[in-house]
Amino acid sequence: MCGIVAYLGPRDAVSVLIDGLKRLEYRGYDSAGVAFLNEGSLKVLKKEGRIAALEEQLNSHKWNSRIGIGHTRWATHGRPSDVNAHPHLDCSGKFAVVHNGIIENYGELKASLEKRGHHFVSETDTEVLAHLVEEAYQGDLCAAVRSVLRQVRGSYALAVLSEHEPGKIVAARKDSPLVLGVGKGEFFLASDIPALLPYTREVCLLGDGEVAEISGDGFRVLNGDGVFLTRKTFHVDWDQEAAERGGYPHFMLKEICEQPRALRETLGGRLTPDGARISFEKLGLRPEVLKSFQRIFIVACGTAYHAGLVGKYVLEKLARIPVEVDLASEFRYRNPILDQQTLVLVISQSGETADTLAALREARHRGCQVLAVTNVVGSSVAREADHVIYTWAGPEIAVASTKAYTTQLLVLYMIGLLFAEARETIEPEEAAAIVAHLKVLPEKVEMILEERELIRELADRYSCCKDVFFIGRGLDYAVALEGALKLKEISYIHAEAYAAGELKHGTLALIEKGVPVVALATQEELLEKMVSNIKEVKAREGVIISVCCGEKREVEEASDHLIRIPDVPSFVTPILSVVPLQLLAYYMAAARGCDIDKPRNLAKSVTVE
Ligand code: AGP
Repeated sequence: MCGIVAYLGPRDAVSVLIDGLKRLEYRGYDSAGVAFLNEGSLKVLKKEGRIAALEEQLNSHKWNSRIGIGHTRWATHGRPSDVNAHPHLDCSGKFAVVHNGIIENYGELKASLEKRGHHFVSETDTEVLAHLVEEAYQGDLCAAVRSVLRQVRGSYALAVLSEHEPGKIVAARKDSPLVLGVGKGEFFLASDIPALLPYTREVCLLGDGEVAEISGDGFRVLNGDGVFLTRKTFHVDWDQEAAERGGYPHFMLKEICEQPRALRETLGGRLTPDGARISFEKLGLRPEVLKSFQRIFIVACGTAYHAGLVGKYVLEKLARIPVEVDLASEFRYRNPILDQQTLVLVISQSGETADTLAALREARHRGCQVLAVTNVVGSSVAREADHVIYTWAGPEIAVASTKAYTTQLLVLYMIGLLFAEARETIEPEEAAAIVAHLKVLPEKVEMILEERELIRELADRYSCCKDVFFIGRGLDYAVALEGALKLKEISYIHAEAYAAGELKHGTLALIEKGVPVVALATQEELLEKMVSNIKEVKAREGVIISVCCGEKREVEEASDHLIRIPDVPSFVTPILSVVPLQLLAYYMAAARGCDIDKPRNLAKSVTVE
């Protein structure tokens, strides 16, 4: 997730662009850049690091510009650096592009452009757009951009500026947000409304697949077929902070609701052209290397550790390889048994967690190859691991991790499929069927999100409870642990998760009248056992809130409340079943008036021991 801005009007364009980028910095902040027409010539300044570094460079000169585009980056393809920062130029240096999203077929486009003599300077997917526009341009910038968009697959919100048409900006969007601000004789583009608010509250939302052409005469919008559309503006009355949250009351709810996009982007561009198999560009773990590993050791903290527990089930089921999961803070001090046939897989949203980083260093010190799964390109974990696979969830602001967790799970399924293919432990048809189920998970998450008011009612009902328990078996147990963490860390309610089969070994002593127990009952083959565990709790007058897939009469009859998630194969339910738990935690904390995005005593990234 990145932030893009554009401006055309009587003001000092460079100042407007920098101000807009600062207001979008929460969307990404590993590098920033601007392109503007300064007395007719196209200027591009861009720098790794925060926007302040770019601003300092820009302030060393007095610019005279009334039109420009800008970008603040959250790296996905290509590490944070000056050269990978946007805007990107074509060979002639006459076309500049800023882009938020992922060009899934950039590899093939880049190869064919290079064959036709184009020279690339960056590692990014975005740069192909600048060279494609250069090729397509025949005197009409808008037509050239539309022709380019017919060639690309993926998501984009982009703006293009060219020296050939100095009074014009062309923009387009598909699956990534882009809003148009209309002032008095001036126009703005931005990824999000916050960047517009100091200048105008008259906003027009571009639709998916639409292209906008902005000039001194005004703006016009075309659909994918080139038909001109009438677009009305609407008045925005959000304050700045509410706007950064996209109108959501908290970043956590915004990020829970961003999960469908985050999942689509994390899977997008990582499938073979036939869409049936997983393919990670540039991952050094070739099949022969994957086959050499006899064991996998997953190491992480907190929510990432809970993702690792799901990963154990997934990897062992798909690849039949022994998997051990350990808390990083334990792993690094217990003299773990490692050898060169062990792959250590570290998971970290921030890529900066001290214990996880120390565990990574310990593993490498003992001669193990390390694969990192992280959400931050260029983070310490990303830089020090032998191999990296990124979750493309975009910046996660709320302390409670949500979209990072579900995208970590998705990446773990993808890694499991890679190992299974290399070790030939499942048939290609079975693997393709699993890929097909993963591809539709985003819309299944959307279905759960559409019903979130039901979960809010449940949360309001039980938000005053002192204790809440979460139980499950198999994959449901791993997800129950995550549900308990979500609830305790933002609502401060005492919450614990147990393997349902453990109830009679102790926990049942804690169940008394009115104690809520969240029972995850999504695993088909364990359903009968789960129903008897639910009845054990009911017999002690506990209150059962069940989560199950589709119609499960026996679960429904045994439960006080039922949260139904879309019916998918048991094997892929974790990415769905966690969403109601995230929402339950969120709404219970909201009902208790907690500081949801910044819970007491906690930090977003624990960079100390
Ligand atoms: C998750 O909700 C918590 N904020 C915390 O447990 C977090 O998952 C843990 O600190 C690990 O962080 P990382 O993924 O950035 O390494």
